[in-house]
Amino acid sequence: MSAVNRDPHNDRGGPLKTLVVNNEKGGVGKSMIAVHLAWYFAECGKRVLFLDLDPQSNGSTTLAEHAGDIDAAALFARPVAIPPPTGGRIRVLGGSAALRGIVAVDGKIIEQFRSNLKDASRGYDIAIIDTPPTFGVRNLAALIAGQFVIAPIDLDDYAIDGIETLLKHIVGVRQKYNPDLTFLGLIPNRLQTTSPRQRENLKSLVLRFGTKYLFDGVIPQRSSIGEALAEKKPVWSLPKTAAREAGREMRIVFDKLAMKMEAP
Ligand SMILES: Nc1ncnc2c1ncn2[C@@H]1O[C@H](COP(=O)(O)OP(=O)(O)OP(=O)(O)O)[C@@H](O)[C@H]1O
Ligand SMILES: [Mg+2]
Repeated sequence: MSAVNRDPHNDRGGPLKTLVVNNEKGGVGKSMIAVHLAWYFAECGKRVLFLDLDPQSNGSTTLAEHAGDIDAAALFARPVAIPPPTGGRIRVLGGSAALRGIVAVDGKIIEQFRSNLKDASRGYDIAIIDTPPTFGVRNLAALIAGQFVIAPIDLDDYAIDGIETLLKHIVGVRQKYNPDLTFLGLIPNRLQTTSPRQRENLKSLVLRFGTKYLFDGVIPQRSSIGEALAEKKPVWSLPKTAAREAGREMRIVFDKLAMKMEAP
């Protein structure tokens, strides 16, 4: 264990907080939320490490201006000294095809990832981990190395399908491997506020999962979110009333998340 490893506190005196954005269902908004969280925490003055464990690399493509030459795949393979963020406050370790080769559930690979992340604690305040829509070794490693996890979900008619399995995986990892993992909740995303059907689905989620598993907040479906991602900018920075409103809605959720992550 290196000297850096022994000190879980970064230069500013706080421990590195690791937040995993996880749901094995595809297209629920993991990458959208992960990149906005990176921008949000950077604007709050935090030094943000963004790890993209998905070879589709949507998140790291959006944040490409913050990427260096180290890919996230390297963290599973060897000790990596992650340099501090340059210029802005974000450093991205991007997703790449090499991630597709990391499939075997191997304790050594997971431990290498965990140890690299721990070593990053001196240079960063928060690590955001975007994950692929599968439950494999990369998601497992993220949950084993992580401290917090959120699970974006959608509210279509199949909303409840799959959530039991997702919760089983998260709770299973906490029980077996990482008692420090805090599940911050299922975050309904892309809520169509005018759809009676979606509101019904949201109600049944509340009844089924209650406040224990459901986050106290939702992110509505807003077209300006897609426009912002296309411009590689946070939605709240677009000079349009609708975008600012979408940003305000998202930040209400993020403020609550940040508070939960600060709680002792
Ligand atoms: N609240 C929202 N309003 C409008 N569009 C959204 C919203 N959330 C996500 N999207 C859009 O939905 C699509 C899927 O989102 P995203 O890529 O973040 O999902 P994902 O869970 O990361 O998918 P994958 O599992 O394939 O990685 C994207 O085109 C994104 O811009
Ligand atoms: Mg994604």
